[in-house]
Amino acid sequence: MNDVINFLKTRRSTTAKTMISGHINKSDLNEILACGIRVPDHGALNPWSITVIKDNARSRIGRDILAPEYILNNPEATEEEIDFEKNRFLRASAVIAVLFKPVSHPKIPLWEMELSTGAVCLNILLSAQSLGYAAQWLTEWYSYNDRMINEVGGKPQTDKLAGFIYVGDKEKEPVERRRPKKENVINFLTE
Ligand SMILES: Cc1cc2nc3c(=O)[nH]c(=O)nc-3n(C[C@H](O)[C@H](O)[C@H](O)COP(=O)(O)O)c2cc1C
Repeated sequence: MNDVINFLKTRRSTTAKTMISGHINKSDLNEILACGIRVPDHGALNPWSITVIKDNARSRIGRDILAPEYILNNPEATEEEIDFEKNRFLRASAVIAVLFKPVSHPKIPLWEMELSTGAVCLNILLSAQSLGYAAQWLTEWYSYNDRMINEVGGKPQTDKLAGFIYVGDKEKEPVERRRPKKENVINFLTE
């Protein structure tokens, strides 16, 4: 089996809950981002953008957006929950936000632009995991929050957050999760 196939068949996400915030090597981050923007993209429209949230931006966004927006939506929030929101992005060394930015096009449907945006997320996830980092693709509640969309340069009326890829260090290797049975999801048409 070649190395790429072996990696794809065995890789796992490490939950943000269990990853450790450490150091992400600058050249690794550059490689991850380079792979992130090298995806299938019908018409080369680039209907997406990437924002890396690292260093102090993680706590600044927690303090200025996540905690206050959480309180707005959950007026009964406990101190513990508010603290969690403030520190949410500190679970990772870097949090990479992927924004879907639809482009008006006479032939290429929006759906295909959305699929390309998913490919950006997956390439970032796979690249980070291939370099040995703990990584997870999350949307959680704040992907659907207008202030967060603004923060990463989007327009809430048209743009959507495809997710946040958390990248950190592993404390231990994650165990395998439930996977689909081939016969339930794969069909062959031969005639
Ligand atoms: C678009 C998208 C959004 C996701 N959002 C969440 C989320 O908000 N919370 C969560 O626990 N898992 C979420 N997941 C699932 C995890 O990222 C991941 O799929 C799961 O932990 C197992 O992944 P693995 O096959 O890479 O090991 C999301 C997955 C996708 C594709």
